[in-house]
Amino acid sequence: NWTTGNVIEEQVEAIRELVGDKRAICGLSGGVDSAVAAALVQKAIGSQLTCVYVDHGLMRKGETEQVEKDFVAATGVQLKVVDAEQRFLEALAGVSDPEEKRKIIGREFIRVFEQAQAEIIADEGPAVEFLVQGTLYPDVVESGGGTGTANIKSHHNVGGLPEDLEFKLIEPLRKLFKDEVRMVGQELGLPDEIVQRQPFPGPGLGIRIVGEVTKERLDLLREADAIAREELTAAGLDRDIWQCPVVLLADVRSVGVQGDGRTYGHPIVLRPVSSEDAMTADWSRLPYDVLARISTRITNEVRDVNRVVLDVTSKPPGTIEWE
Ligand code: XMP
Repeated sequence: NWTTGNVIEEQVEAIRELVGDKRAICGLSGGVDSAVAAALVQKAIGSQLTCVYVDHGLMRKGETEQVEKDFVAATGVQLKVVDAEQRFLEALAGVSDPEEKRKIIGREFIRVFEQAQAEIIADEGPAVEFLVQGTLYPDVVESGGGTGTANIKSHHNVGGLPEDLEFKLIEPLRKLFKDEVRMVGQELGLPDEIVQRQPFPGPGLGIRIVGEVTKERLDLLREADAIAREELTAAGLDRDIWQCPVVLLADVRSVGVQGDGRTYGHPIVLRPVSSEDAMTADWSRLPYDVLARISTRITNEVRDVNRVVLDVTSKPPGTIEWE
């Protein structure tokens, strides 16, 4: 008989037995899966778990604080935050090509994460033998894997660490679907902002700026995105849409008029979509009054933005993200 209580109890016991007096590490992305996996393992082994959060400076407004403050407050987890904003900005300077941006962000992320991992391993304390991952049942099926409680398979680490270092994986969510993971997270006391979070890409806002990524543009996009999210939440639409990327067309300018003057600013694109699995998607028919409020607020409140446009393309042919 499936209950979230049973799942938690079962997993906590299995993880305790598995880890013994060794240590585990877990990377937090700000997403639901890694947060719930970490909270579950934290419940089982407490301070024997260390979480790592790489702040690449490409997160949306308030997201890093949600991990640093709210997640830690809710779980009491030991968290190592690496502020790598400067490093990512430098690596991304002058780059506009989407694939190149993705490659750079992925590469830098692994480097920073492995550095943090190496520092934790070098700490005094019991051996770090386990790596926690938020793998879900659909991921397991897709990769043709087996079943098992706190299933273990070997994971060879790449780069930066001793060649023979091998983590055992703890994947406490590998029998669960997304909605079940959310229920477990709720039961573990995680805040709604984390548990009900919509998908957000790993490369973050870096792939929502069409053009070069700079700190100034990121700040501008963060403001516009925060307004869109605020209004969608206020209108009670969060559960109706899959996600709503907000995109800055940094290389485009158009003429406008604001106050007494002519402006020459950037457009912001709203990309609300409905989807079951992100493989296909349709553009969401949002109420006009909500779109109007978002548009008015963004053009009034965000410097250098003088136009808001709506993306009415399904997937295919468009992808959900612009890059
Ligand atoms: P596309 O743009 O391919 O996006 O239609 C499909 C879904 O995947 C998300 N997405 C990503 N998620 N790392 C992620 O973790 C990525 O690099 C990435 N790229 C896209 C996107 O937000 C959508 O939900």
